[in-house]
Amino acid sequence: MRRWPVASSGLLHSDLGRRLAPAWLKRAIKSAIPYADFRSEQCRHQAERLLGGPIPQQSDYESPYPFRLGVFTDTSYYFAHHVKACREMRVAYRLLDLSASRWVELVRESGCDAFLASPSALLSSLRHMFDERLRVLVEDIECPLYPSFSELWLWESKRRMRDWLVAHDVPHPKTDVFYNREEALAFVDGADYPLVCKTDTSAASKGVFILRSRRAAGKLVEQAFTSGITPRSWDRRDRQRGYVLLQQYVPHDTEWRVVRIGDDFLCRRKHRIGDYASGSGEIEWARPGRDMLDFVEKVTDLGGFRIMAVDFFAAVGAEGEATYLVNELQCLIGAIVNEQKRNEDTGKWHRSGADWRFVPGFFYQNACANLRVAYVIKALAGMRGLRLVNPVEVLSA
Ligand SMILES: Nc1ncnc2c1ncn2[C@@H]1O[C@H](COP(=O)(O)OP(=O)(O)O)[C@@H](O)[C@H]1O
Ligand SMILES: [Mg+2]
Repeated sequence: MRRWPVASSGLLHSDLGRRLAPAWLKRAIKSAIPYADFRSEQCRHQAERLLGGPIPQQSDYESPYPFRLGVFTDTSYYFAHHVKACREMRVAYRLLDLSASRWVELVRESGCDAFLASPSALLSSLRHMFDERLRVLVEDIECPLYPSFSELWLWESKRRMRDWLVAHDVPHPKTDVFYNREEALAFVDGADYPLVCKTDTSAASKGVFILRSRRAAGKLVEQAFTSGITPRSWDRRDRQRGYVLLQQYVPHDTEWRVVRIGDDFLCRRKHRIGDYASGSGEIEWARPGRDMLDFVEKVTDLGGFRIMAVDFFAAVGAEGEATYLVNELQCLIGAIVNEQKRNEDTGKWHRSGADWRFVPGFFYQNACANLRVAYVIKALAGMRGLRLVNPVEVLSA
């Protein structure tokens, strides 16, 4: 991928550069250069720090497992988590570039048994490329893909999540998506406030706007249908235009996250600072109620999802009953910044009859990539009817 020279300058992404550059200069640089390129370079530096150098293209060790995984690269370098997990668990892998024109040949020649994907979401053009090619990979070339195509379809798309939640009658904050300016304006005229506006993609609350008045909402709707809305700290080439997503405001102090990988469930809770819990940095291990685990199991079962994080608010229903409202469904999640920040709820849950059993320990290595890779190896063994001589388990770190 061609990069803007300043975006790839090492100084800009070095610890020294980050410490020395004043905030105004960082802001000016970010707004002057294509942000996706800048951010991609930043991610590359972080990934190389994580792996202690350039990311190895393939495994260079003997694997105890009779499978090789194809790991697709992405411009956010999320794939580095998959590489690190494979290396830590001695699973054979090979990196593949899905954006290459001859990607079908690369896949066919790779000798890989299954593929791990983490679509690039920094630019919508690349996201669409992943959607198009992964569908061909699964439907036409018939390759096993993890997360699955339907799990990845929802990833980083609040419009797709909303339609899925409506279609499956899963409780969620009431959400409307308008592609017609007049319809959207009529809606904001009659709406209760505050109201929430979200862009389709973006993370860490960058594309979430709390609208406290009819006037603010009307202005944002006009913007959505003219110049477009850009999430904060986002690439200016990727204005979101021609639609508007408006959501009922749900008062909350915390947002729950339960990650499901196979039959393991891991629970974290984000605390709101100002308007937003996501991106607040205040996130901790938390003890879920049994009913929460039942709820997440039911939601994920509905979609046949085995690799999925469910973010939800605990709310009060119309009859005063406790209820959970799904805010997001994300099959790929960020890493834990401070892995040493643990408490008595650090661990994983799994169903045991009508109840749930807790296994203490740290199983979130590499943004849960170790759990994902172990799940893939077990799934491949199951598909081929093989009994693994060396069982694949993620041990507590
Ligand atoms: N419907 C809502 N009502 C009130 N606050 C909300 C609502 N939806 C999201 N938020 C707040 O905004 C944050 C970010 O929203 P979210 O939809 O999770 O987007 P992101 O992809 O940025 O995480 C949430 O963590 C929550 O604190
Ligand atoms: Mg979120």
